[in-house]
Amino acid sequence: MASLSAIPIINGQNGDSQAKKPKLSDDNRVTVVLGTQWGDEGKGKVVDLLAAKADVVCRCQGGNNAGHSVHIGEKEYAFHLLPSGIVNPDCTAVIGNGVVVHVPNLYEEVKKNEKHGLPDWKNRLLISNRAHLVFDMHQQVDGLQESGRGKNLIGTTKKGIGPTYSSKVTRNGLRMCDLVGDFEIFKAKFQNLVDYHKRIFPDLSVDVESELKRYEAYRNEIQPLVTDTISYLYTAIRNGKNILIEGAQSAILDIDFGLYPYVTSSNCTAGGVCTGLGIPPRSIGDIYGVVKAYLTRVGTGGFPTEQSNEIGNVLLTKGAEFGVTTGRPRRCGWLDMMMLKYANMINGFTALAITKLDILDDFKEIKIGVSYHIDGKKIETFPACDEVLQKVKVEYLTLPGWETSTENIRKFNDLPPNAQRYIKTIESLVGVQVRWVGVGKDRHSMIEI
Ligand code: GTP
Repeated sequence: MASLSAIPIINGQNGDSQAKKPKLSDDNRVTVVLGTQWGDEGKGKVVDLLAAKADVVCRCQGGNNAGHSVHIGEKEYAFHLLPSGIVNPDCTAVIGNGVVVHVPNLYEEVKKNEKHGLPDWKNRLLISNRAHLVFDMHQQVDGLQESGRGKNLIGTTKKGIGPTYSSKVTRNGLRMCDLVGDFEIFKAKFQNLVDYHKRIFPDLSVDVESELKRYEAYRNEIQPLVTDTISYLYTAIRNGKNILIEGAQSAILDIDFGLYPYVTSSNCTAGGVCTGLGIPPRSIGDIYGVVKAYLTRVGTGGFPTEQSNEIGNVLLTKGAEFGVTTGRPRRCGWLDMMMLKYANMINGFTALAITKLDILDDFKEIKIGVSYHIDGKKIETFPACDEVLQKVKVEYLTLPGWETSTENIRKFNDLPPNAQRYIKTIESLVGVQVRWVGVGKDRHSMIEI
């Protein structure tokens, strides 16, 4: 029979040992922030707000194809791969197994932010030993694939994210555990990956020797950060730590649920939290959906509520809707309930954060797309195909605007009645409570309801 000391403690109920151990909690739950539309909803600000109370902040999917900027007083940080909650000096930041990491780009990001005052990151950053590596070769492949698509561009950021997830799925990718493990094995796997890609893209140019030299140097530097983040998070959850997961990209860009193929290569919905961090579904607590008060899309494809007119121009200019890396103007339109309801079906939001309400301040009337019709017939579900989305006609609900600035308002009851009505209408149409309303860029420009 096993001795008592060999029996694991469950719920801190194991007599003697309990006094020496912290109280273990089996009912602690992680908090998740996710995008609900086509990205650029302003997730950064909601994360920033919640990260102030977090002990651990995590990324579970994507790579450095995301981008949040966080303004704190005079300091401005830009995050692509790092969880932006790392600005809280008391937080440990976790890059999960579902994330793909370009090591040189990660160091560039870290060093830039260190210059801007990011404190003590070396002791606060953990990277999953199961996270896949993005190589320059993947970035080249990304460019080659995109240029081969002719007019049907996906609009990738060419950061090599898609090709790295392809390597993961074709089972010849390399992971962090390979990089910090036996380097001879790493070299052989790397050569195998190069050969694989060269068979498909004969024009690909990879200087294997110099790449390996570069990675041998990074290997020593990154080793202390690489760990089994699954058991780290398991313990952190059971020790009652406050854990925040930051989603990158958004529901309609999800590889499974988005408008394929105009999607990103990972699951940016709730399921991605479990697979990208190794957290059991029952450990997921609140899931907050971030909704921009109107809608934007980058690149081509269907956009039923798009306003290619003066309304769209106002949203574009007042909302500063230009791509962060490309500077390209985003397409703008009214809020789309068919999309939001669909995002909620997948994610089961606990509450919503509506951002950029202030951008609607000057409109005389504001519309919300409430249903889709094709050939005069109402369609009940959100289309799977972008081609179908391009055909739908939208039925709108028209609400009166408030025509006054909301920027300095900090209490829901102080918002103009028509602005309150807009928020309450969204709440009742989606069937999810609205918890925060963003009324300006500043981190304090947020109303908590
Ligand atoms: P992705 O992860 O790339 O999809 O972007 P994101 O959702 O993280 O967007 P981000 O946090 O970068 O926010 C986009 C921009 O909106 C930033 O410049 C924010 O400062 C700004 N923003 C966020 N909330 C508000 C708001 O309530 N009002 C105004 N005017 N600007 C806001």
